[in-house]
Amino acid sequence: MEKTFLSLLFLASLLCCTTNQAVLLTVSPSRSQHFIEDSLTLSCEEDGGSATWIVWRNTTAGGVSQCGIKWGRQHGSTCKNSMALRSDSGVYWCESSEGAASDSIQLNVTGGSVILQSPVHPLMEGDNVTLSCLTKTSFFNGPATFYKDGSVIRNVPTGQMTLHHVSSHLTRMDSLCW
Ligand SMILES: *[C@@H]1O[C@H](CO)[C@@H](O)[C@H](O)[C@H]1NC(C)=O
Ligand SMILES: *[C@@H]1O[C@H](CO)[C@@H](O)[C@H](O)[C@H]1NC(C)=O
Ligand SMILES: *[C@@H]1O[C@H](CO)[C@@H](O)[C@H](O)[C@H]1NC(C)=O
Repeated sequence: MEKTFLSLLFLASLLCCTTNQAVLLTVSPSRSQHFIEDSLTLSCEEDGGSATWIVWRNTTAGGVSQCGIKWGRQHGSTCKNSMALRSDSGVYWCESSEGAASDSIQLNVTGGSVILQSPVHPLMEGDNVTLSCLTKTSFFNGPATFYKDGSVIRNVPTGQMTLHHVSSHLTRMDSLCW
């Protein structure tokens, strides 16, 4: 059997405590992994506040820096990176001029032909989560195998799997889409 695509990826979301953050950093497309040259929109979403939030990041190559200086364009509380590079992989968060900050999210930009679409924010116990293999242009409809801690948990014919009512045991998942 020929493997057209091979990717080893994981759902890094840990089940954790409920956070009551005043501001939430979201990313569009809404996933942790991204392709090179993807256009990313990072938005700081605040409940009812009027502060302006700046997106900051910490990357291996560039260290800690804010959007609009050496990367991205900041407009209001939104930062746009119109062409993602591998070196954009890192930890991202929102910060106000008063120094308040959101929780951070990990974004990875990979050079592979298939990625795993998995949630950016931590899951809560009992959530349903759908994991999908994704190519640059569409969902990947070929067969996929999902692993948890190295053991196969499911083989699916169409590159997509939903886990119902996730438990706190779910901490790390790998997938092979081919
Ligand atoms: C940035 O990331 C590096 C490497 O992971 C870490 O050592 C450093 O403490 C981080 N800096 C901040 C301000 O988070
Ligand atoms: C992103 O890459 C870092 C460093 O290679 C890794 O530790 C992390 O788990 C990756 N996260 C995702 C969601 O791929
Ligand atoms: C999860 O999926 C089940 C079965 O489809 C559904 O009954 C339930 O309402 C879903 N739970 C949430 C939190 O969406």
